Amino acid sequence: MADLFLKALNSEKTERPPVWLMRQAGRYMPEYRALKERFSFLQLCQNPELATEVTLLPIKAFEPDAAILFADILLILQTLGFDLNFGKDHGPLIGTHDLLQDISGLPISPVEDTLSYIPQTIALLKKELKVPLIGFCGAPFTLATYVLEGRGSQDFLKTYDWVYNHPEKLHALCQILTDQTIQYLKMQVNAKVDALQIFDSWLGHFPYSVVQEFALPYIQQILHALKGTNVPIILFAKGTSHLVTEFVDLNPAAISFDCGCDLLKIQKHVPENIAIQGNLDPHLLSAPKDKLFKELNRLIEGFQNRPGYIMNLGHGIRPSASYDSTRALFDHVKSLNIPC
Ligand code: CP3
Repeated sequence: MADLFLKALNSEKTERPPVWLMRQAGRYMPEYRALKERFSFLQLCQNPELATEVTLLPIKAFEPDAAILFADILLILQTLGFDLNFGKDHGPLIGTHDLLQDISGLPISPVEDTLSYIPQTIALLKKELKVPLIGFCGAPFTLATYVLEGRGSQDFLKTYDWVYNHPEKLHALCQILTDQTIQYLKMQVNAKVDALQIFDSWLGHFPYSVVQEFALPYIQQILHALKGTNVPIILFAKGTSHLVTEFVDLNPAAISFDCGCDLLKIQKHVPENIAIQGNLDPHLLSAPKDKLFKELNRLIEGFQNRPGYIMNLGHGIRPSASYDSTRALFDHVKSLNIPC
């Protein structure tokens, strides 16, 4: 069973769909909340023993078919000299540089130095895990929005300012983020992750012309640079099912879809050599179980005989998710004898 996930990523038939959940280690777990009483989020990420312990919490509790490294897409901004603050009552805050003045003056450091705790965590995990380990990164455009806005945003006004008034600077920033990301992913591959996922969380908020100019070319560079490693890459861009053709053209190993589309319809637009991941509504983990099971069955039955389907949520799991329902989700998927 250990390679169910890698088989599906390779678009091979599996005896049942593999299952893992985005944010499977998180605040819905009492064990995680207990660790957060003693350590900050950054301490958990930056200490290899603690990051290993957190990564393994859902593995021990539910035995998913893959583990995802406990880290964050924003950590790479430390290699550009940004301070990160994951406070209790607000989303992440990114300290600002006077970027508009001189983007070439960013104090860029080698990924291997600043993020050395990442391969150390991967090495510890590889000793413990019997299932594949997923590494990840944020896509350059989503990372650029965090740099420019200084935090998560609703209206992305500063990003739009750069899109239309300083496009050459935005390209320079996306290129720096791309170069660092390629080094970062190669470092994860060298440390022996089995698969990678790219999170482009905010792309769905932007018009097509912006996606085309500032997002897709940089994702393409990343996929191209990692091709030789033969490590499969999953592309997850929230709110972008209208871009399915563009993502298929990028030819990742898999595309992960959010809840905004009917996965059974969208599969018709994805050739069988690209696997499909998603897109259960995370809120079903706080709903009556019959509703959860009904949607699980609908998705999995819909993928019968379509090789390369990976059960996952359409977004990260919510802190309010029921632990009991999360266990039920894993148990239910594993009990189904439906080849995908
Ligand atoms: O999936 C996993 O379990 C791996 C770990 C992981 C985290 N963040 C841990 C985390 C991953 C893959 C991420 C990705 C991430 N981080 C994204 C992309 C997600 C998506 O759905 O598109 C984004 C946009 C971020 C940035 C970020 N980190 C935000 C906006 C927040 C605050 C919101 C929140 O949920 O608290 C974080 C903090 C964060 N990252 C937490 C965790 C477990 C919560 C920290 C805490 O315990 O307080």
